[in-house]
Amino acid sequence: MNKGAIGIFDSGIGGLTVFSEIRKKLPNENIIYLGDTKNFPYGNKSKEEIIKFSKENVETLIKKGAKIIVIACGTATSQAIGVLEKEYEIPIIGIIEPTVNYIKTREIKEIGVIATEGTIKNGAWEKQLKNKIDDIKVINKACPMLATIAEEGKAKSEEGKKAIKEYMKPFKKNHTDKIILGCTHYPIYEKLIREELGYDVELINTGITVAEYLEKYLKDNNLENDTPKEKEEIFLTKPEQEFKNIAKNIMKIDIKIQ
Ligand code: DGL
Repeated sequence: MNKGAIGIFDSGIGGLTVFSEIRKKLPNENIIYLGDTKNFPYGNKSKEEIIKFSKENVETLIKKGAKIIVIACGTATSQAIGVLEKEYEIPIIGIIEPTVNYIKTREIKEIGVIATEGTIKNGAWEKQLKNKIDDIKVINKACPMLATIAEEGKAKSEEGKKAIKEYMKPFKKNHTDKIILGCTHYPIYEKLIREELGYDVELINTGITVAEYLEKYLKDNNLENDTPKEKEEIFLTKPEQEFKNIAKNIMKIDIKIQ
């Protein structure tokens, strides 16, 4: 049993999509969320930079009392998780492994992946999917503008719509009916994606697969908190006026920033 917090980080608001699923699934757990707004966006940065930011985030979360780290960011998972796991003793969970494990439990032979430029270039989703699932076909599409548009609170604007129209082209053409939202900012676009595709599509939200994986991990490793929740803290590396409003009005997540 462990009252330490679940430490979650992302470059900005995107990881709140993971935070909200963890909060729902594990209501007793203390949570500390770190949005690295000072270094946003991660999607166009080099691997070295992502590793440096990720290390700083892990160290901040450990200092603040984390018992486990959740990398609520596809870019940081794809580029830094291996280094972080080697460097720190604290357990670290990214968004790729839990999601690939979930997909493996299903009869899926073809899947789309949308993510940041850095994540798609790195190829981590495709590699892990192909490692674990025989003969799976993966259709990748980098969406360089989506995280920034969401972070600016414009996901539902004309700009958001135009970007989705462009990025959905390969899936629409192919009639892809299962797509991994490989960047944690993307669940914000769920409705627009469905409207643009116009057919029944399953959008895989990594927040849900991560929350399920985390629940099991805490149980198996005797790390659960069996006392009532005491804290839920959100920190940003650079104050952002809009952060709370976007969380509340666009993501429907009510938060208090420290
Ligand atoms: N939410 C992040 C991800 O999952 C980062 C987006 C960005 O900072 O570019 O990739």
